[in-house]
Amino acid sequence: MKIRRAVLADVPEIQKLINYFAKKDWMLARSLNDLYENIRDFWIADEDGRFIGCCALHMIWADLAEIKSLAVRESHKGMGVGKRMVLKCLAEARILGLKRVFALTYVPKFFKKCGFGRYPKSKLPHKIWGDCLNCPKFPDCGEISVAVEL
Ligand SMILES: CC(C)(COP(=O)(O)OP(=O)(O)OC[C@H]1O[C@@H](n2cnc3c(N)ncnc32)[C@H](O)[C@@H]1OP(=O)(O)O)[C@@H](O)C(=O)NCCC(=O)NCCS
Repeated sequence: MKIRRAVLADVPEIQKLINYFAKKDWMLARSLNDLYENIRDFWIADEDGRFIGCCALHMIWADLAEIKSLAVRESHKGMGVGKRMVLKCLAEARILGLKRVFALTYVPKFFKKCGFGRYPKSKLPHKIWGDCLNCPKFPDCGEISVAVEL
């Protein structure tokens, strides 16, 4: 299993997996347009050329980025793949000079294993609510905000 940069050819698989979990209401769906525009955010878990999962590190501000669209195939759940992708994003965040990375999630316990702690939503900048405004669950989605200081 390697964690590699995404390429444009990964987009259909990324969308299929994200939207599979989005249908279960576990994460936000993403359009092809959105994924092509943001493909450079993504890391891919790749097992002998097979797409296993994805995770995006999206820049927000001078010192802040968000982990988005984290998903692992159900066949590979619980094998450390999600954590490896998040740690890859954090390593990249350090190289970029970020001070904090956050996520909005229904699985705070998973993020705790990756070094994140609870973080008040009220401290996040207003611009992060762009995605939320388009979500049918806004403003009561119940997602928990977590962050790690780098
Ligand atoms: C949540 C998800 C990304 C976790 O990925 P994963 O590869 O299964 O998790 P890992 O095997 O890397 O787990 C790392 C650690 O977190 C724990 N963990 C994983 N999922 C967990 C969960 N749902 N609840 C509590 N702990 C969890 C594991 O037990 C493991 O602990 P350990 O280090 O003590 O062994 C994956 O299950 C998934 O794609 N879920 C559906 C989509 C989703 O909810 N994405 C998150 C959007 S923010």
